[in-house]
Amino acid sequence: MSLIDAAIDYVYSLFRDNAGGHDAEHTLRVYQNAMMIAQQEPDCDLETVALSALLHDADDHKLFHTENNANARSFLTQHDVEPDKIEYICKAINAVSFSQNRGKRPDSLEGMIVQDADRLDAIGAIGIARTFAFGGEHGRPLEATIQHFHDKLLLLKDEMNTETAKRIAESRHLFMVNFLQEFDAETKAARLRKS
Ligand code: ADP
Ligand code: NI
Repeated sequence: MSLIDAAIDYVYSLFRDNAGGHDAEHTLRVYQNAMMIAQQEPDCDLETVALSALLHDADDHKLFHTENNANARSFLTQHDVEPDKIEYICKAINAVSFSQNRGKRPDSLEGMIVQDADRLDAIGAIGIARTFAFGGEHGRPLEATIQHFHDKLLLLKDEMNTETAKRIAESRHLFMVNFLQEFDAETKAARLRKS
């Protein structure tokens, strides 16, 4: 089995018990997005992009109580990835998160690609679906969940690193803006009656 196939298997076993926004499917989409972006970035190392994408949520503190990228490290060590490369991948992974790195850019091209790939999965149709899944999981009303679009999702298109992601983000952004307009129109009458 190739290293990448082994990483995909590892991701499925790791996320088996997690529904909602952070599941194995999210990671698989981030991996697909990352490989698509990487095709347009001749200077990147494809294996590093793939492994960083596949392991980017393996130590997410909201899901796992690991420290120092323990899950990612243990997978990479078991598969004989060189120590320098493990460090490089962990650094890329740790630069991805929006909430933990506001305003900072990853310092490697591979980190930038995976950050863009993760952010693309937070916007557009899939972003809308994940956001309401998250709201539902946390017992929030629809109207309260809408706030997350203004706090985070509508800001993402201007924070993309690569040209490929900027282009895709533009159309996904527009889709969200249209969705919000339509949502507002469809719910307006009931809101007016309430106030
Ligand atoms: P990051 O890994 O960049 O810190 P999060 O893990 O906080 O991002 O968010 C992942 C996804 O979970 C978001 O893209 C969104 O769909 C959903 N989510 C996170 N916070 C909220 C929220 N307050 N309301 C609705 N959805 C949320
Ligand atoms: Ni993610």
